[in-house]
Amino acid sequence: MLTLGVIGCGYWGPNLVRNFYSQPDTRVTKVADLSRERLQHMETLFPALETTQDHRELIEDPGLDAIVISTPVTTHYKLAKEALEAGKHVFLEKPLTHNAAESLELVKLAEAKGLVGMVGHTFLYSPAVMKIKELVDAGELGEVQYISTIRVNLGLFQDDINVVWDLAPHDISIFNFIFGSVPDRVNAVGHDYIQPEIEDVAFLTFRYPKGKLAHVHVSWLDPNKIRKTTVVGSKKMLVYDDVSTLEKIRVYDKGVDVHRHYDTFGEFHLAYRFGDISIPKLADGEPLKAETAHFLDCIRKGTPCRSSFLHGHQVVVALEHACRSMGDSGGETAIDYGL
Ligand SMILES: NC(=O)c1ccc[n+]([C@@H]2O[C@H](COP(=O)([O-])OP(=O)(O)OC[C@H]3O[C@@H](n4cnc5c(N)ncnc54)[C@H](O)[C@@H]3O)[C@@H](O)[C@H]2O)c1
Repeated sequence: MLTLGVIGCGYWGPNLVRNFYSQPDTRVTKVADLSRERLQHMETLFPALETTQDHRELIEDPGLDAIVISTPVTTHYKLAKEALEAGKHVFLEKPLTHNAAESLELVKLAEAKGLVGMVGHTFLYSPAVMKIKELVDAGELGEVQYISTIRVNLGLFQDDINVVWDLAPHDISIFNFIFGSVPDRVNAVGHDYIQPEIEDVAFLTFRYPKGKLAHVHVSWLDPNKIRKTTVVGSKKMLVYDDVSTLEKIRVYDKGVDVHRHYDTFGEFHLAYRFGDISIPKLADGEPLKAETAHFLDCIRKGTPCRSSFLHGHQVVVALEHACRSMGDSGGETAIDYGL
Protein backbone atom coordinates (compact mmCIF):
# COMPACT_ATOMS: atom_id res chain seq x y z
CA MET A 1 0.00 0.00 0.00
CA LEU A 2 1.35 3.45 -0.95
CA THR A 3 -0.08 6.50 0.81
CA LEU A 4 -0.03 9.90 -0.87
CA GLY A 5 -0.79 13.53 -0.07
CA VAL A 6 -1.59 16.16 -2.70
CA ILE A 7 -0.62 19.85 -2.47
CA GLY A 8 -2.63 22.17 -4.73
CA CYS A 9 -6.28 21.54 -5.59
CA GLY A 10 -7.01 24.24 -8.14
CA TYR A 11 -7.91 23.41 -11.73
CA TRP A 12 -5.57 20.43 -12.24
CA GLY A 13 -5.05 18.97 -8.73
CA PRO A 14 -8.49 17.26 -8.48
CA ASN A 15 -7.68 15.28 -11.68
CA LEU A 16 -4.55 13.95 -10.01
CA VAL A 17 -6.43 13.09 -6.80
CA ARG A 18 -9.10 11.25 -8.80
CA ASN A 19 -6.54 9.26 -10.78
CA PHE A 20 -4.33 8.35 -7.82
CA TYR A 21 -7.51 7.42 -5.90
CA SER A 22 -8.43 4.91 -8.58
CA GLN A 23 -5.08 3.07 -8.52
CA PRO A 24 -4.90 -0.28 -6.75
CA ASP A 25 -3.08 -0.53 -3.39
CA THR A 26 -2.90 3.24 -3.18
CA ARG A 27 -4.49 5.73 -0.81
CA VAL A 28 -4.73 9.50 -0.98
CA THR A 29 -5.33 10.54 2.61
CA LYS A 30 -4.57 14.29 2.76
CA VAL A 31 -4.74 17.35 0.54
CA ALA A 32 -3.49 20.89 1.13
CA ASP A 33 -4.49 24.15 -0.53
CA LEU A 34 -4.20 27.76 0.57
CA SER A 35 -7.82 28.29 -0.44
CA ARG A 36 -10.48 27.17 2.04
CA GLU A 37 -12.98 27.18 -0.82
CA ARG A 38 -10.94 24.69 -2.86
CA LEU A 39 -10.60 22.44 0.19
CA GLN A 40 -14.37 22.49 0.72
CA HIS A 41 -14.77 21.48 -2.93
CA MET A 42 -12.39 18.54 -2.35
CA GLU A 43 -14.29 17.51 0.80
CA THR A 44 -17.47 17.36 -1.27
CA LEU A 45 -15.81 15.27 -4.01
CA PHE A 46 -13.86 12.97 -1.67
CA PRO A 47 -15.46 12.95 1.81
CA ALA A 48 -12.77 10.66 3.29
CA LEU A 49 -9.96 13.14 2.58
CA GLU A 50 -8.32 15.13 5.37
CA THR A 51 -7.79 18.74 4.27
CA THR A 52 -5.46 21.48 5.48
CA GLN A 53 -4.27 24.94 4.44
CA ASP A 54 -0.74 24.14 5.66
CA HIS A 55 1.27 21.95 3.27
CA ARG A 56 3.76 21.15 6.09
CA GLU A 57 1.14 18.90 7.67
CA LEU A 58 1.59 16.63 4.64
CA ILE A 59 5.34 16.91 4.36
CA GLU A 60 5.86 16.14 8.05
CA ASP A 61 3.37 13.23 8.11
CA PRO A 62 5.38 10.01 8.56
CA GLY A 63 2.43 8.05 7.17
CA LEU A 64 2.84 9.53 3.66
CA ASP A 65 5.18 7.85 1.17
CA ALA A 66 4.89 10.44 -1.59
CA ILE A 67 3.81 14.02 -2.17
CA VAL A 68 2.02 15.14 -5.33
CA ILE A 69 2.39 18.85 -6.13
CA SER A 70 0.02 20.72 -8.44
CA THR A 71 0.58 24.37 -7.54
CA PRO A 72 1.74 27.32 -9.72
CA VAL A 73 5.22 26.81 -11.18
CA THR A 74 6.86 29.54 -9.10
CA THR A 75 6.11 27.48 -5.94
CA HIS A 76 7.35 24.11 -7.29
CA TYR A 77 10.99 24.34 -6.24
CA LYS A 78 10.35 25.22 -2.59
CA LEU A 79 7.60 22.63 -2.07
CA ALA A 80 9.47 19.82 -3.87
CA LYS A 81 12.69 20.55 -1.99
CA GLU A 82 10.89 20.38 1.36
CA ALA A 83 9.22 17.10 0.39
CA LEU A 84 12.45 15.47 -0.81
CA GLU A 85 14.32 16.62 2.29
CA ALA A 86 11.60 14.96 4.37
CA GLY A 87 12.27 11.68 2.49
CA LYS A 88 9.14 11.65 0.31
CA HIS A 89 8.94 10.58 -3.32
CA VAL A 90 7.68 13.53 -5.39
CA PHE A 91 5.33 13.83 -8.34
CA LEU A 92 5.49 17.44 -9.51
CA GLU A 93 3.37 19.05 -12.20
CA LYS A 94 5.08 20.48 -15.29
CA PRO A 95 7.22 22.48 -15.74
CA LEU A 96 9.55 21.17 -13.04
CA THR A 97 10.60 24.66 -11.88
CA HIS A 98 10.82 28.19 -13.23
CA ASN A 99 14.60 28.20 -13.64
CA ALA A 100 17.36 25.77 -14.48
CA ALA A 101 19.47 26.26 -11.34
CA GLU A 102 16.51 25.14 -9.23
CA SER A 103 15.57 22.22 -11.47
CA LEU A 104 19.15 20.93 -11.45
CA GLU A 105 19.19 21.14 -7.65
CA LEU A 106 16.03 19.03 -7.47
CA VAL A 107 17.50 16.43 -9.87
CA LYS A 108 20.56 16.11 -7.65
CA LEU A 109 18.60 16.09 -4.40
CA ALA A 110 16.25 13.30 -5.52
CA GLU A 111 19.24 11.30 -6.75
CA ALA A 112 21.21 11.80 -3.52
CA LYS A 113 18.21 10.73 -1.43
CA GLY A 114 17.42 7.73 -3.67
CA LEU A 115 13.84 9.02 -4.14
CA VAL A 116 11.62 8.99 -7.21
CA GLY A 117 11.15 12.43 -8.76
CA MET A 118 8.70 12.56 -11.62
CA VAL A 119 7.29 15.49 -13.62
CA GLY A 120 3.72 15.52 -14.97
CA HIS A 121 4.62 15.65 -18.66
CA THR A 122 1.26 14.06 -19.43
CA PHE A 123 1.73 13.73 -23.19
CA LEU A 124 4.43 11.09 -22.72
CA TYR A 125 1.65 8.85 -21.38
CA SER A 126 -0.92 9.58 -24.09
CA PRO A 127 -1.76 6.72 -26.48
CA ALA A 128 -1.11 9.02 -29.47
CA VAL A 129 2.42 10.06 -28.46
CA MET A 130 3.22 6.48 -27.43
CA LYS A 131 2.11 5.33 -30.90
CA ILE A 132 4.28 7.98 -32.62
CA LYS A 133 7.28 6.87 -30.56
CA GLU A 134 6.58 3.24 -31.46
CA LEU A 135 6.36 4.06 -35.20
CA VAL A 136 9.52 6.19 -35.11
CA ASP A 137 11.53 3.60 -33.17
CA ALA A 138 10.38 0.86 -35.54
CA GLY A 139 11.73 2.94 -38.46
CA GLU A 140 8.25 3.27 -40.05
CA LEU A 141 8.89 6.91 -41.00
CA GLY A 142 12.55 6.39 -41.92
CA GLU A 143 14.95 8.88 -40.36
CA VAL A 144 12.95 11.64 -38.63
CA GLN A 145 14.08 14.91 -40.17
CA TYR A 146 12.01 17.54 -38.41
CA ILE A 147 8.98 18.00 -36.16
CA SER A 148 6.70 21.01 -36.23
CA THR A 149 3.92 21.78 -33.73
CA ILE A 150 1.17 24.33 -33.25
CA ARG A 151 -0.40 24.75 -29.79
CA VAL A 152 -2.68 27.79 -29.91
CA ASN A 153 -6.01 28.95 -28.51
CA LEU A 154 -7.76 32.12 -27.35
CA GLY A 155 -6.46 32.25 -23.74
CA LEU A 156 -6.17 31.17 -21.08
CA PHE A 157 -3.98 34.19 -20.26
CA GLN A 158 -1.72 33.66 -17.22
CA ASP A 159 -0.29 36.52 -15.17
CA ASP A 160 2.75 34.83 -13.62
CA ILE A 161 4.29 33.08 -16.64
CA ASN A 162 4.43 33.73 -20.39
CA VAL A 163 2.95 31.51 -23.09
CA VAL A 164 6.28 29.71 -23.59
CA TRP A 165 6.38 28.48 -19.98
CA ASP A 166 2.66 27.69 -20.10
CA LEU A 167 2.35 25.72 -23.33
CA ALA A 168 5.78 24.84 -24.78
CA PRO A 169 6.78 22.38 -21.98
CA HIS A 170 4.44 19.88 -23.64
CA ASP A 171 6.07 20.23 -27.06
CA ILE A 172 9.68 20.19 -25.88
CA SER A 173 8.96 17.13 -23.78
CA ILE A 174 7.41 15.41 -26.84
CA PHE A 175 10.34 16.44 -29.12
CA ASN A 176 12.94 15.08 -26.66
CA PHE A 177 10.96 11.86 -26.24
CA ILE A 178 10.51 11.24 -29.97
CA PHE A 179 14.05 12.19 -30.98
CA GLY A 180 15.53 10.43 -27.94
CA SER A 181 17.89 13.40 -27.51
CA VAL A 182 17.94 17.01 -26.34
CA PRO A 183 18.39 20.20 -28.41
CA ASP A 184 21.82 21.88 -28.75
CA ARG A 185 20.64 25.33 -29.85
CA VAL A 186 17.49 27.46 -29.92
CA ASN A 187 16.26 30.71 -31.36
CA ALA A 188 12.90 32.24 -30.53
CA VAL A 189 10.81 35.31 -31.16
CA GLY A 190 7.70 36.36 -29.30
CA HIS A 191 5.63 39.38 -28.36
CA ASP A 192 3.48 40.73 -25.51
CA TYR A 193 0.36 42.03 -27.27
CA ILE A 194 -2.04 41.95 -24.31
CA GLN A 195 -0.20 42.05 -20.95
CA PRO A 196 3.02 44.07 -20.69
CA GLU A 197 6.17 41.93 -20.50
CA ILE A 198 4.27 38.62 -20.63
CA GLU A 199 4.65 37.21 -24.15
CA ASP A 200 1.36 35.81 -25.42
CA VAL A 201 2.65 34.52 -28.77
CA ALA A 202 5.98 32.87 -29.59
CA PHE A 203 7.75 30.90 -32.31
CA LEU A 204 10.62 28.67 -31.14
CA THR A 205 13.08 26.69 -33.27
CA PHE A 206 15.32 24.04 -31.73
CA ARG A 207 18.31 22.36 -33.34
CA TYR A 208 18.88 18.74 -32.34
CA PRO A 209 21.93 16.59 -33.10
CA LYS A 210 22.33 15.18 -36.64
CA GLY A 211 20.69 18.17 -38.33
CA LYS A 212 17.21 17.50 -36.90
CA LEU A 213 14.95 20.50 -36.33
CA ALA A 214 11.89 21.11 -34.16
CA HIS A 215 9.65 24.14 -34.32
CA VAL A 216 6.79 25.17 -32.04
CA HIS A 217 4.26 27.96 -32.35
CA VAL A 218 2.49 28.72 -29.06
CA SER A 219 -0.14 31.39 -28.56
CA TRP A 220 -2.95 32.54 -26.27
CA LEU A 221 -4.05 34.87 -29.05
CA ASP A 222 -5.55 32.79 -31.81
CA PRO A 223 -9.17 32.35 -32.93
CA ASN A 224 -8.94 28.54 -33.06
CA LYS A 225 -7.87 25.80 -30.70
CA ILE A 226 -5.18 23.94 -32.64
CA ARG A 227 -3.01 21.16 -31.25
CA LYS A 228 -1.19 19.78 -34.28
CA THR A 229 2.16 18.01 -34.63
CA THR A 230 3.76 17.08 -37.96
CA VAL A 231 6.60 14.58 -37.98
CA VAL A 232 8.50 14.40 -41.26
CA GLY A 233 10.61 11.33 -41.90
CA SER A 234 12.77 10.30 -44.84
CA LYS A 235 10.23 7.57 -45.76
CA LYS A 236 6.84 8.73 -44.47
CA MET A 237 5.19 11.70 -42.79
CA LEU A 238 2.80 11.79 -39.88
CA VAL A 239 0.24 14.31 -38.61
CA TYR A 240 -1.04 14.12 -35.04
CA ASP A 241 -4.13 16.21 -34.35
CA ASP A 242 -4.83 16.11 -30.63
CA VAL A 243 -8.15 17.93 -31.04
CA SER A 244 -9.54 15.22 -33.33
CA THR A 245 -11.55 12.61 -31.47
CA LEU A 246 -11.53 9.77 -34.00
CA GLU A 247 -8.47 10.11 -36.21
CA LYS A 248 -5.73 11.58 -34.05
CA ILE A 249 -2.87 10.20 -36.15
CA ARG A 250 -2.56 9.94 -39.92
CA VAL A 251 0.50 8.41 -41.52
CA TYR A 252 1.14 9.62 -45.07
CA ASP A 253 3.21 7.46 -47.36
CA LYS A 254 4.39 10.63 -49.05
CA GLY A 255 7.86 11.87 -49.72
CA VAL A 256 10.46 12.97 -52.19
CA ASP A 257 13.06 10.66 -53.70
CA VAL A 258 16.18 12.35 -55.02
CA HIS A 259 17.89 10.83 -58.07
CA ARG A 260 21.11 12.21 -59.44
CA HIS A 261 20.65 13.13 -63.13
CA TYR A 262 23.80 11.87 -64.78
CA ASP A 263 23.29 13.42 -68.26
CA THR A 264 23.80 16.89 -66.96
CA PHE A 265 26.35 16.73 -64.19
CA GLY A 266 25.19 18.17 -60.86
CA GLU A 267 21.49 18.19 -61.64
CA PHE A 268 19.03 16.41 -59.39
CA HIS A 269 15.81 14.76 -60.38
CA LEU A 270 13.10 14.85 -57.71
CA ALA A 271 10.43 12.17 -57.73
CA TYR A 272 7.40 12.84 -55.55
CA ARG A 273 5.72 9.88 -53.91
CA PHE A 274 2.01 9.92 -53.13
CA GLY A 275 1.05 6.66 -51.43
CA ASP A 276 -1.57 5.48 -48.96
CA ILE A 277 -2.75 7.31 -45.90
CA SER A 278 -3.21 5.10 -42.83
CA ILE A 279 -4.86 5.76 -39.51
CA PRO A 280 -3.27 3.63 -36.77
CA LYS A 281 -5.48 2.31 -34.02
CA LEU A 282 -4.62 3.82 -30.66
CA ALA A 283 -4.79 2.11 -27.29
CA ASP A 284 -7.67 3.19 -25.06
CA GLY A 285 -7.06 4.93 -21.80
CA GLU A 286 -6.69 8.24 -20.06
CA PRO A 287 -3.10 9.61 -20.12
CA LEU A 288 -3.39 10.71 -16.49
CA LYS A 289 -4.31 7.19 -15.42
CA ALA A 290 -1.22 5.80 -17.18
CA GLU A 291 0.93 8.61 -15.80
CA THR A 292 -0.15 8.12 -12.17
CA ALA A 293 0.24 4.32 -12.51
CA HIS A 294 3.75 4.85 -13.87
CA PHE A 295 4.76 6.97 -10.86
CA LEU A 296 3.56 4.29 -8.42
CA ASP A 297 5.29 1.59 -10.47
CA CYS A 298 8.59 3.47 -10.39
CA ILE A 299 8.37 3.72 -6.59
CA ARG A 300 7.46 0.05 -6.15
CA LYS A 301 9.94 -1.40 -8.66
CA GLY A 302 12.70 1.19 -8.47
CA THR A 303 12.59 1.54 -12.27
CA PRO A 304 13.46 4.82 -14.08
CA CYS A 305 10.70 7.34 -14.81
CA ARG A 306 9.89 8.22 -18.41
CA SER A 307 9.37 11.84 -17.32
CA SER A 308 12.03 11.90 -14.60
CA PHE A 309 13.27 15.06 -12.92
CA LEU A 310 16.19 14.90 -15.39
CA HIS A 311 13.75 14.97 -18.33
CA GLY A 312 11.95 17.86 -16.60
CA HIS A 313 15.24 19.70 -16.08
CA GLN A 314 16.12 19.35 -19.77
CA VAL A 315 12.75 20.89 -20.64
CA VAL A 316 13.26 23.76 -18.17
CA VAL A 317 16.72 24.51 -19.60
CA ALA A 318 15.33 24.59 -23.14
CA LEU A 319 12.50 26.94 -22.02
CA GLU A 320 14.94 29.24 -20.24
CA HIS A 321 17.23 29.48 -23.27
CA ALA A 322 14.26 30.06 -25.59
CA CYS A 323 13.16 33.00 -23.42
CA ARG A 324 16.73 34.32 -23.37
CA SER A 325 16.73 34.25 -27.18
CA MET A 326 13.34 36.07 -27.25
CA GLY A 327 14.87 38.78 -25.08
CA ASP A 328 17.78 38.98 -27.50
CA SER A 329 15.60 39.67 -30.59
CA GLY A 330 15.68 36.01 -31.64
CA GLY A 331 19.44 35.47 -31.62
CA GLU A 332 20.43 31.78 -31.70
CA THR A 333 21.83 30.54 -28.42
CA ALA A 334 23.70 27.35 -27.45
CA ILE A 335 21.88 25.37 -24.77
CA ASP A 336 23.90 24.52 -21.65
CA TYR A 337 22.30 21.86 -19.43
CA GLY A 338 24.79 22.39 -16.57
CA LEU A 339 25.23 18.63 -16.15
N1 LIG B 1 -0.15 18.20 -17.16
C1 LIG B 1 -1.04 19.04 -17.67
O1 LIG B 1 -1.55 18.86 -18.76
C2 LIG B 1 -1.44 20.25 -16.86
C3 LIG B 1 -2.64 20.93 -17.12
C4 LIG B 1 -2.95 22.03 -16.33
C5 LIG B 1 -2.09 22.46 -15.34
N2 LIG B 1 -0.92 21.79 -15.15
C6 LIG B 1 0.03 22.22 -14.12
O2 LIG B 1 -0.55 22.05 -12.85
C7 LIG B 1 -0.07 23.06 -11.95
C8 LIG B 1 -1.27 23.78 -11.33
O3 LIG B 1 -2.00 24.41 -12.35
P1 LIG B 1 -3.54 24.82 -12.15
O4 LIG B 1 -4.01 25.24 -13.48
O5 LIG B 1 -4.26 23.78 -11.40
O6 LIG B 1 -3.37 26.13 -11.23
P2 LIG B 1 -4.47 26.76 -10.26
O7 LIG B 1 -4.00 28.16 -10.00
O8 LIG B 1 -5.84 26.52 -10.77
O9 LIG B 1 -4.31 25.92 -8.91
C9 LIG B 1 -3.19 25.99 -8.08
C10 LIG B 1 -3.64 25.76 -6.66
O10 LIG B 1 -2.49 25.70 -5.83
C11 LIG B 1 -2.81 26.31 -4.59
N3 LIG B 1 -1.55 26.69 -3.92
C12 LIG B 1 -0.63 27.62 -4.30
N4 LIG B 1 0.39 27.64 -3.42
C13 LIG B 1 0.12 26.70 -2.47
C14 LIG B 1 0.80 26.26 -1.30
N5 LIG B 1 1.97 26.77 -0.92
N6 LIG B 1 0.21 25.29 -0.57
C15 LIG B 1 -0.97 24.77 -0.92
N7 LIG B 1 -1.68 25.15 -2.02
C16 LIG B 1 -1.13 26.10 -2.78
C17 LIG B 1 -3.68 27.50 -4.98
O11 LIG B 1 -4.45 27.94 -3.89
C18 LIG B 1 -4.51 26.90 -6.10
O12 LIG B 1 -5.74 26.37 -5.63
C19 LIG B 1 0.84 23.96 -12.78
O13 LIG B 1 2.17 23.55 -12.62
C20 LIG B 1 0.39 23.69 -14.21
O14 LIG B 1 1.41 23.91 -15.16
C21 LIG B 1 -0.60 20.69 -15.87
